[in-house]
Amino acid sequence: MNRTTMLASVAALALTATNALAETRTIGFSQIGSESGWRAAETTLTRQQAEERGYQLQFSDAQQRQENQIAAIRSFVAQDVDAILLAPVVATGWDAVLREAQEAEIPVVLLDRRVDSDESLYLTAVGSDLVHEGEVAGQWLVDQVAGEECRIVELQGTTGSSPAIDRKTGFENAISGHDNLQIVRSQTGDFTRAQGKEVMESFLQAENGGADICALYAHNDDMAVGAIQAIKEAGLQPGTDILVVSIDAVPDIFQAMAAGEANATVELTPNMAGPAFDALEAYWADGTMPEKFIQTESRLYTQADDPQGEYDRRKDLGY
Ligand code: AHR
Repeated sequence: MNRTTMLASVAALALTATNALAETRTIGFSQIGSESGWRAAETTLTRQQAEERGYQLQFSDAQQRQENQIAAIRSFVAQDVDAILLAPVVATGWDAVLREAQEAEIPVVLLDRRVDSDESLYLTAVGSDLVHEGEVAGQWLVDQVAGEECRIVELQGTTGSSPAIDRKTGFENAISGHDNLQIVRSQTGDFTRAQGKEVMESFLQAENGGADICALYAHNDDMAVGAIQAIKEAGLQPGTDILVVSIDAVPDIFQAMAAGEANATVELTPNMAGPAFDALEAYWADGTMPEKFIQTESRLYTQADDPQGEYDRRKDLGY
């Protein structure tokens, strides 16, 4: 065997060994549930990423309950998985279970939502700047109404979740100092389409059949889509009589935008697992510690941004 062939053989053996090692990795994923189209896409992409990288994914659907997530993490620790991905339904109450994972030397990566625990208890968090998302949505509305009076209704996400807290803060930051804009009603719709519709119906009733509402701000697109249905059933034109701005950039909101029934959305990428696995791989390889927060981009889309094209590009991506 000449030197080149020998080096090639050694490299091939090393690659095989690396792949074999990767194949043995088991990842526990505690997912919140399936409350929204965005959540479904995050689950799909995490499964795809795990498969492509040769990991075995232990998936646990918490059905929106923190106690189910805590039980799932304890079960992952008992199974001695190689890493845990956690999309935490609410921000508080994680200290004890995160400490248990740390004591078992299992790295935990947070996906898309934040916790109020000390950051030493997890390896890294992958997500967007949730306050910024709310600010982008609020600034769009400030610019859109251009000084006109605007009474806003707000559909909040799951109570106690970091996106509900931060998207509210961000939006309020953006409209503060603009006395023409005022949030007149604000209630949770739990990030679901059904509750978005139901709560919007009550807002419409309370606000002169909707005549006194200028805009809807929804913390996610699914609630906006439910609310759009309620606005139409009330005999009003969403997107015109009531402006609609929300967050996620799921295919259905682009369809609504293409039909003129929604006005703007702020994108949240569902591919949180890619950066999470990259960070874990570097950590496993040589102990590289990632940044504590790996930030994904948040971009604004309006009706001017080819909503039909965006719908076509996204419709088969697992939303
Ligand atoms: O944590 C991200 C949020 O959770 C998404 O914006 C929403 O759709 C989902 O339920």
